[in-house]
Amino acid sequence: MALVRLPGLVDVHVHLREPGSEAKETFADGTRAALAGGIVTVLDMPNNPGAPTVTPAALADKATRAAVGTCCDIGFHYGATPDNLDTFATVADQVFGLKLYLDHTTGTLLIERLDATAAILAAWPAAKPLLVHAEERTVAAVLGLIAVQPRRVHFCHVSLGSEIRLIRAAKERGLPVTCEVAPHHLFLSAADLPRLGAYGLMKPPLRSGADVDALWDHLDVIDMIATDHAPHTHADKAAGTPAYGVPGLQTALPLMLTAVAAGRLTLDRLVALMATTPRRVFALPDPPATFVEIDPAARWTIRNADQYTRCGWTPFDGLAVQGRVQRVVVRGREVVRDGVVPAEPGSGQVLIPA
Ligand code: NCD
Ligand code: ZN
Repeated sequence: MALVRLPGLVDVHVHLREPGSEAKETFADGTRAALAGGIVTVLDMPNNPGAPTVTPAALADKATRAAVGTCCDIGFHYGATPDNLDTFATVADQVFGLKLYLDHTTGTLLIERLDATAAILAAWPAAKPLLVHAEERTVAAVLGLIAVQPRRVHFCHVSLGSEIRLIRAAKERGLPVTCEVAPHHLFLSAADLPRLGAYGLMKPPLRSGADVDALWDHLDVIDMIATDHAPHTHADKAAGTPAYGVPGLQTALPLMLTAVAAGRLTLDRLVALMATTPRRVFALPDPPATFVEIDPAARWTIRNADQYTRCGWTPFDGLAVQGRVQRVVVRGREVVRDGVVPAEPGSGQVLIPA
């Protein structure tokens, strides 16, 4: 069995659930899932219900909790609201990006008015990443805005053919945009919903087979894979109004390796999508003496029982994949070996931008 070494992977879009929803997940088990999936650096989103990361105090509290719990390296995104622009200067050098929710999602961070969006874009330091949750027509709205009010924007979880085609056209015209796609939008479609039920619900939702094909056809436009890891408990999913979101940290690399084995992309391109480009776009340091050892030939089946996330399930349960993480080393320490994650809570670093 020929093992292959990859650099430590990055996920710039995760929803670990501290503080506020520890029954769904904690920093400790979410980041163990990350390491088990070869991801050594995560950037956490601000939409914690009850305590969204939209004030300097909430950010400081989250960082303190993460320092105790995290098993991998972790940094944070700050959340924009129509009313917190005056805090941007205080937090900008402590976070990796500002997140704007322009379409409905979990939590209360929706920004509906165009003037509020324009003001936020103008107030955030131009050199720092700005991430938008935009779907369909709001993608066009953001592109229109930055055409007249220039600034770099990163589009989260692109899921529609219409979106990726528009982003291609924007890039061809020289607009400074980047985008990410989530594995569930590449490996699942609306056709899986009858089988998955509430476990297939997330925002943006699973799309048509034609949309999935369009994402694969425009793979060269996609800058990075990000999981939008958003665990919810079985009870949350069984509720009359089920929670939106699926975990993804532990399964992203095996899924992408399976696509490599099928000839859909090269291993070099996978490394660009999951390590090099996200580190460059979000100015993330590359930890020294860090690597992920994979067995690209190993065939195995993803199982709920093997998931480290506290929620204990994955929408990919039962899927046969090819390519397995054998060993992960971070700063010279072995943190994963043969499916066991010996990393201790608090052993990861809380990252502050350089
Ligand atoms: C996310 C969550 O649960 O926090 N859910 C989701 O379906 N993606 C929120 C989000 O990223 O929109
Ligand atoms: Zn998200």
